[in-house]
Amino acid sequence: MAGPAHQAPMIDGCGRRIDYVRISVTDRCNLRCTYCMAEDMTFLPRRDLLTLDEIAQLARHLVARGVRRIRLTGGEPLVRRGVMDLVRALGAMWSEGLEEVTLTTNGTLLARDARALFAAGVRRVNVSLDTLDPARFALITRGGRISDVIAGINAALAAGLTVKVNMVALKGVNDAELVDMVRWCGERGCDLSLIETMPLGEIGGGRRETFLPLSDARAVLEDAFALLPTTHRTAGPARYFEIAETGRRVGFITPLTDNFCAACNRIRISATGTVYACLGREERVELRDILRDGRFADLDRALFSLLADKPARHDFDIDRRKPAVSRHMSVTGG
Ligand code: 5AD
Ligand code: SF4
Repeated sequence: MAGPAHQAPMIDGCGRRIDYVRISVTDRCNLRCTYCMAEDMTFLPRRDLLTLDEIAQLARHLVARGVRRIRLTGGEPLVRRGVMDLVRALGAMWSEGLEEVTLTTNGTLLARDARALFAAGVRRVNVSLDTLDPARFALITRGGRISDVIAGINAALAAGLTVKVNMVALKGVNDAELVDMVRWCGERGCDLSLIETMPLGEIGGGRRETFLPLSDARAVLEDAFALLPTTHRTAGPARYFEIAETGRRVGFITPLTDNFCAACNRIRISATGTVYACLGREERVELRDILRDGRFADLDRALFSLLADKPARHDFDIDRRKPAVSRHMSVTGG
């Protein structure tokens, strides 16, 4: 179904080459992190979701348009039944030009799935872990068990996966743990990315009180470690430093305090087949019906018109009373 590979690559209206796609395979999650979700979330009806076959079809089409990396996200991607079939289908797209399939996960199901992920060709996963303290973890996630995540990280490492830990830095919640987290990751050979909390979706309460500018986090880390600047880049927006004492990297993802949109290389697809041009903006196209009807010329028309309209940058502002967009991270894909 995909068109010939010589068709136009995806270049947006600002001249940015789009070769990275994040696909949310479900908006559901088995945790309820306070900065991400409200306590009682309404999730999408299952019949509205793209089937796993439809996601694979869409992925194949995007790979033919020059997409080189795909990250599966959620919600929690591993709670979607059959998701490993999708990972295997993507893993078979190497020959079509796909270079990497990765996953962002909360880690709770990794002990079950790590080996299968590796066998399907996945080599890197990002695991969200905001604290090392079991009670605090239960508070942040509204009831999660940290032992599940630690077992998941251990299983991933044992299976041969490279693990990067994502920590949303929250003032008065986990900011006293920054140094410990760097050490803990260093002992396991994991890089760490610190993330500023973003105003996405209502969470029942403000985000402003817990917002921690990462310049503060960096100052704390610089008191404890030597942070060496690196030129290391991944497909993402983090700026990395090497920690001399551990030999591992720490990345800073600073959507609020240091805009990185000029280098944006990505679009995001929701579990229902809505393609979003930007995490923090409303521009979107709906691909589900087009896919279901097999109208592939329309698929390209929709994609390329969205690219033409892709905003130059997001519009996050932690001081505004309402979030930048009403949808949660779990809809657009983290
Ligand atoms: N702001 C910042 N990070 C968030 N995440 C989820 N919601 C938000 C938010 N509003 C994080 C998760 C995960 C990553 C994909 O995004 O913790 O690590
Ligand atoms: Fe689930 Fe991740 Fe959101 Fe936490 S941050 S509720 S683990 S999707």
